[in-house]
Amino acid sequence: MDVFEAPGTAPESAAATQTAAASTGAPTAEDEQGLARFLELIESDARVEPTDWMPAAYRKTLVRQISQHAHSEIIGMQPEGNWITRAPSLKRKAILMAKVQDEAGHGLYLYSAAQTLGTDRDTMFEQLITGKAKYSSIFNYLTPTWADMGSIGWLVDGAAICNQVPLCRASYGPYGRAMVRICKEESFHQRQGFEILLSLMNGTDAQRQMAQESVNRWYAPALMMFGPPDEDSPNSQQSMAWKIKRFSNDDLRQRFVDMLVPQAEILGVTLPDPDLKFNEETGHYDFGELDWSEFYEVLKGNGQANTVRVAKRRAAHENGAWVREAARAYADKQAAAAEAAALAANEMVAA
Ligand SMILES: [Fe+2]
Ligand SMILES: [Fe+2]
Repeated sequence: MDVFEAPGTAPESAAATQTAAASTGAPTAEDEQGLARFLELIESDARVEPTDWMPAAYRKTLVRQISQHAHSEIIGMQPEGNWITRAPSLKRKAILMAKVQDEAGHGLYLYSAAQTLGTDRDTMFEQLITGKAKYSSIFNYLTPTWADMGSIGWLVDGAAICNQVPLCRASYGPYGRAMVRICKEESFHQRQGFEILLSLMNGTDAQRQMAQESVNRWYAPALMMFGPPDEDSPNSQQSMAWKIKRFSNDDLRQRFVDMLVPQAEILGVTLPDPDLKFNEETGHYDFGELDWSEFYEVLKGNGQANTVRVAKRRAAHENGAWVREAARAYADKQAAAAEAAALAANEMVAA
């Protein structure tokens, strides 16, 4: 299970690797050949492309993961978009606006990648605005202070990078390629968040307090972005076997904590975990238990902002109906003109 994936929604086992044909009857020779070729691609670390044969469960897992990832990018625009007009300077506004626009772009690359698997964008949007689709729980937390823009960049985009860099090597080509570009932008996002916190930590006592208070709120939810502990994440195994996912939730979480500690020292913020300490034996930082009951509550829809986020997305979708209609009318007109031109050209040839 990855950062944007809800537990309990994945195809349940390796048995799900059966082919589509196998579920409706005996696999055809074509399916058997397809499966052999698919396994060969996975084995040799090559990319699976949209036109390649793939197991139905692989396709389904990817559609779910990529669309949840896309939804997270789009919903993730809200907690920060909400600060654009209140950012403390013109420079901060410009940076934040660019960052939020990047997230919209990430959503678009990812919806496009998911579409190559045969699920259309309208279906995915519908699932999001009716509350059927999951997105990362982190975006159901509120952003009451400016320092939260720093914490989101530093911790949330930071966790996203740890999770997403290995996804650049995901076995499905369009997903991996989308991630390459996304990761470049995420690293800018993390730096801008770090820099917001650094400015606050170099400011007045009140600013330092604001930064620390914000880090206190975001630290644990950011660690939970990697999903439940490995023993509670049975679907991860299949995703790792398919080379969609390359590292387990706990490994990624450890990597994240190891990255954060020295950065927190530079900032001068305290990470809110009394059990956090370097372990000479393992060479990693040990850290305390996370409150997974909170994670599951937010996932169930009981976070601070679940209802607000989906309602706002739905309103934006409805307000944008005229744009989609206009784009469709324009596309129809272009297609009709192209058809008329082709017809005229044919007639000239015939004459
Ligand atoms: Fe993003
Ligand atoms: Fe980001």
